[in-house]
Amino acid sequence: MRRVTEIPEHLLKRSQARRAAMGGGGAGDAGDGGEAAATPTESGAAVEKAATAPAAAAATPTEVEPAKPEPVAPYVEAAQRRKRVPIWAVPVLAALPIWAFVYAATLEPPSLGEADPLTFGEGVYASNCATCHGATGGGGVGPALSGGAVTDNFSDPADQIEWIQLGSAGFQADGRNTYGDNNTPINGGMPGWEGVLTPEEIAAVVFYERSGLSGEEPNEALVNAEGLLLVDGEPVVLAGGGGGEGGHGG
Ligand code: HEC
Repeated sequence: MRRVTEIPEHLLKRSQARRAAMGGGGAGDAGDGGEAAATPTESGAAVEKAATAPAAAAATPTEVEPAKPEPVAPYVEAAQRRKRVPIWAVPVLAALPIWAFVYAATLEPPSLGEADPLTFGEGVYASNCATCHGATGGGGVGPALSGGAVTDNFSDPADQIEWIQLGSAGFQADGRNTYGDNNTPINGGMPGWEGVLTPEEIAAVVFYERSGLSGEEPNEALVNAEGLLLVDGEPVVLAGGGGGEGGHGG
């Protein structure tokens, strides 16, 4: 008897239900092997006792409470509330390595080594002179520079450099009304480039106009035997890349 009263209430209820299902219980219970089943009458007495003592049952609420959500740590809660990565970020993140690659490429020097004076001068011409003298020197607002035009008018490259430095207004300010070997009358309109272009850029564009546009053999007043551009008689190494692109490069 003492042993039986120790059986928790929910087990008793279960055995009670089982017995009801088996039609009042009895001999068949023996095969079950359960302790409660082995002593059916005692169990029954215990059930009755439990039924007549509701206060005791209430005092031992062994039944499992309905599952409440477990309390969550604040940091877990914060992580759960946090917004997920927005959908538009997916292509952005995917493109990141490409962007990094392109960015790394821009950090490299534009090109290695020195620039060829003719190519450098061509860049200066295209950016600053072609609008008035034509892309290939055929002329426009300004006179043609191709086909020997500049070498005919400036046998000495130094005179051409001076003309380009000062321009029409600069010559007129000097009291001169003509320019070049042929004493071409100044009608105006040729800008002065001193201070706008660097001495290297002016020397290079003169070299280009003469050798590139007017077909002169490399003039030893403009390039030395190694092919280096001469500025005021001194060879200069032109930085590779830009070639005076944009008018103020180099
Ligand atoms: C705004 C238009 C304009 C631009 C830009 C210009 N020129 Fe001229 N250039 C002229 C005009 C106009 C003349 C004729 C000037 C005159 O009659 O006074 C001329 C004359 C010349 C001549 C003399 C040609 C000859 O044989 O009679 C040379 C050389 C020349 N320019 C070189 C250059 C170079 C180099 C650049 C670029 C750095 C340049 N020009 C940019 C308008 C321009």
